[in-house]
Amino acid sequence: MSTTPTTKTPKGSAKAAAGPTPGGTDGVARAPATEAATAGADAVVRRHAEDQFAHELAALAAADDRPRPPMWKLSPWAVATYVLGGTAGGVEITAKYIGKRRLVEVAIATLATDRALLLLGVPGTAKSWLSEHLTAAISGDSTQTVQGTAGTAEEQVRYGWNYALLLAKGPSREAMVPSPVMRAMAAGTIARIEELTRIPSDVQDSLITILSEKTLPIPELGDEVQAAKGFNVIATANNRDKGVNELSSALKRRFNTVVLPVPDSAEEEVAIVQKRVEALGKSLEIPARLAGTDEIRRVVQVFRELRNGVTEDGKSKLKQPSGTLSTAEAISVMNNGLALAAHFGDGSLKAADLAAGLVGAVVKDPVQDRVVWQEYLETVVKERDGWKDLYRACREAL
Ligand SMILES: Nc1ncnc2c1ncn2[C@@H]1O[C@H](COP(=O)(O)OP(=O)(O)O)[C@@H](O)[C@H]1O
Ligand SMILES: [Mg+2]
Repeated sequence: MSTTPTTKTPKGSAKAAAGPTPGGTDGVARAPATEAATAGADAVVRRHAEDQFAHELAALAAADDRPRPPMWKLSPWAVATYVLGGTAGGVEITAKYIGKRRLVEVAIATLATDRALLLLGVPGTAKSWLSEHLTAAISGDSTQTVQGTAGTAEEQVRYGWNYALLLAKGPSREAMVPSPVMRAMAAGTIARIEELTRIPSDVQDSLITILSEKTLPIPELGDEVQAAKGFNVIATANNRDKGVNELSSALKRRFNTVVLPVPDSAEEEVAIVQKRVEALGKSLEIPARLAGTDEIRRVVQVFRELRNGVTEDGKSKLKQPSGTLSTAEAISVMNNGLALAAHFGDGSLKAADLAAGLVGAVVKDPVQDRVVWQEYLETVVKERDGWKDLYRACREAL
């Protein structure tokens, strides 16, 4: 006997199963977002993409007359517009991901096939970010997520048991605790698996049946869950973690890999940082604003030079620090600086507000990276026109 996807779904999946009904009825998994939505206030630190951009998604759905794959809330074309920005029915759609259009198109097209999507890249290349937004646009629910760690157990990928119920009533559907993957299978939505390569290999391999047969057997009940149309998986993996728990070739074959690059040019990276700093400053209500992009440019230049091991003019070689110096860290350096300026300065960002964050981002290894950073300060920062303030502030922060 097989269980059809429309049978009673367990607590927490009510929203996913019920589709676009606003707010979960169960009050369990979706409680914070539901409260924030009904209060109409930004009461949570970080809203789910589908809540935060609900108006954009609604505008796209209304304007979208292209064919949609089964269970998709938008056509692939509209999903791409949601991710890359544009307009829909007079509503401005903000760009979430800044980068190559083709890459996003390949990712979306993959999700409309029977292969799963693996987003690969160094830390801070927006793998999780893109995964969340793709899921929000396609399924309207980005919360069916497994956070992969060395301690991720099979229950988190398949299902577990509520032991009180199991003892009281024996094995039954009621006593099962479904994983996010199982919920997504039942609802015909997308499940996200973060940091797939940190998950122990035997647990990873429990995904093989799910991805190839599109079923999740429940031997204890002589039952199974068959994936409803619309089900797929987006996994992310960090290629710096290579070799931690590398994917078996059987599993690798079930994925289409899309590599997210670090931003090509300084211009692009500045644009990403500026966008995110503005958005985060607003949601964290930091009472300091950036005047122009000069400070962002400096931070991005420092990051790029150290990351690439050469100065921007290509003239001097540099030692590279051990950290990744990702775009995401550049965003944090700017945000920390703004918070310092707002609460302990006069509200305008100065070099001294950036220095502590910069040192923290570069010096991850207290011995080696310190040497790298000092050398960079003395040979590059000190000599550069108009960078004296930064040099002095960084010297003090060390
Ligand atoms: N190309 C990009 N376009 C838009 N945002 C980006 C880009 N690269 C990095 N970011 C920002 O950097 C942050 C880090 O992204 P995240 O998804 O956590 O990285 P990863 O999962 O790859 O380690 C996000 O807030 C995201 O907005
Ligand atoms: Mg991530």
